[in-house]
Amino acid sequence: MSYIVFARKWRPKDFDSVLGQEHVTTTLKNAIAQNRVAHAYIFSGPRGVGKTTTARIFAMALNCKVGPAKEPCGTCDSCKEISNGTNLDVIEIDGASNRGIDEVRALRENIKFAPTRGKYKVYIIDEVHMLTEEAFNALLKTLEEPPAHAIFIFATTRPYKVPSTILSRCQRFDFKRLTVNEITGKLKEIVKSEKLEIEEEALYTIARAAEGAMRDAESMLDQLVSFCGKKIDAESATAISGTVGHEVLFDFTEKVINKDTAGILKLVDGVIAGGKDIPQFVNSLVVHFRNILIARASDEPEALIDLPKEMIGRLAVQAKSFSNETLLYILTVLMGAQDSVRRAISQRIPLELAAIRLTRRDDLVSLTSILDRIEQLEKKLGSGAGKPEPKAAPQQHKDENISEPPKAAAKKEHFDVEVEVEAKGFSFERICEVWPNLLREILSKKMSLALFLQPGQPLKLQDSVLTIAFSREHTFHKEALETSGNRKMIESALSNILKHDVRIDMKVVEALEKKVSVEDLLLEERQEETHEVVKSALEIFGGNLKSR
Ligand SMILES: Nc1ncnc2c1ncn2[C@@H]1O[C@H](COP(=O)(O)OP(=O)(O)O)[C@@H](O)[C@H]1O
Ligand SMILES: [Mg+2]
Ligand SMILES: [Zn+2]
Repeated sequence: MSYIVFARKWRPKDFDSVLGQEHVTTTLKNAIAQNRVAHAYIFSGPRGVGKTTTARIFAMALNCKVGPAKEPCGTCDSCKEISNGTNLDVIEIDGASNRGIDEVRALRENIKFAPTRGKYKVYIIDEVHMLTEEAFNALLKTLEEPPAHAIFIFATTRPYKVPSTILSRCQRFDFKRLTVNEITGKLKEIVKSEKLEIEEEALYTIARAAEGAMRDAESMLDQLVSFCGKKIDAESATAISGTVGHEVLFDFTEKVINKDTAGILKLVDGVIAGGKDIPQFVNSLVVHFRNILIARASDEPEALIDLPKEMIGRLAVQAKSFSNETLLYILTVLMGAQDSVRRAISQRIPLELAAIRLTRRDDLVSLTSILDRIEQLEKKLGSGAGKPEPKAAPQQHKDENISEPPKAAAKKEHFDVEVEVEAKGFSFERICEVWPNLLREILSKKMSLALFLQPGQPLKLQDSVLTIAFSREHTFHKEALETSGNRKMIESALSNILKHDVRIDMKVVEALEKKVSVEDLLLEERQEETHEVVKSALEIFGGNLKSR
């Protein structure tokens, strides 16, 4: 017997076996039941999620001996032929290889003739967006006045490329990617019936790597069988899928927890040396940390994390080592890296820089701890425990019960700017006062921006230009802020708070202690790639290179 690949062998034969597309199959079944079948449909969605399959089942349901029926019988001649692709009334055209006017003309000639066996002639045009303009125009004429027996199903992965004149004549269905659980569910069915032995983790590895496409998952399983035989282990699944195994993700996280920069760079090197796909690795890291965040934040992580229970337990353990804020920071860095590895010439550098950032995150003094401190000060001030230096304010704080206002400190501790802003004027001192409010304002708008601004300090004010100082080790922060969008956001927030137009300028000043950072070493090691490093670093921080 000849071998049939899983994807074909396991193609669903009725609507109920099409997973994850109930919104489509239910509507189609109802249309048949209510005798309200449209003349043209468009099935849009990614590859391998059931568009062609559903189109064929729909054709079967329409032309079945007992049909039009909500479920085709699957056993009559018509059903069998359609399922084998030999039925003369169901015409499949691949738009990608038959792009031209001739095919559409042939279709228009052919469509006039009544169906040979069934009640309908069903034209399934795959990748319809590939047709030429001329072909579309010819098709449009047919769509304007289709014979009663004709039904069109256009499938496309790129619906936005289909002319609106066509779209507007079709009923549209958007097919979704399948969830990891839907995919593992079907894989388990196949495994059982094919009498395979497979580690649970391997199933999840395949399902995740398939990125929502059932066909890809089935093809990977096929490959694994020819690679391992009937006994499939997690390691082989990882190898075939090109993804990085869970152990590596947990290990990476462990190094982030321990702030082990050297170790994490070694791990990254191992991943790359093992030929893993870097963008995919970064994606896996993003998903992993997202899962950790969920394991921390949700009381029902099983519903939200596509992983076996045992693994969710391990995530929860790792989650204990992070604060929510740190996790958000980690995700910000990784998502920045996700972007930049796709664009960078040398993909490993943005990944390495992200890894360094994650293991040296203490350099960013915790923003919440600062905000907490401010809040405490505010409370202290509000309750009268400390007294702000008297200003030309129309209204004073409640003055009773004040003991020795600490003169010098008072100025710095006076943070409640919400009141009487205008009366207080515009000065460098004023800016220092409102600085925490600025941070808070920006934090509420764009978290990453606040993280970059946070290590900066107001240095001087001249002609309405405020200079913000950064220590050398925060050069990346400074440069990320220098991009025009970020700069404008800070300027407008600050101007708003001060009710006075301010522009900003950023400057690096010598740090108190100049320690050699890992970034510096990396820069030295890769002189030839310096430009790339800076660019990737900026990308990690959400900035762009300023054109100078
Ligand atoms: N929603 C689904 N439910 C079950 N199996 C599916 C689904 N989508 C795809 N498959 C599997 O993948 C194969 C290819 O699906 P197909 O319908 O040709 O995808 P598309 O046309 O969207 O690219 C099918 O033969 C089937 O084995
Ligand atoms: Mg298809
Ligand atoms: Zn039938």
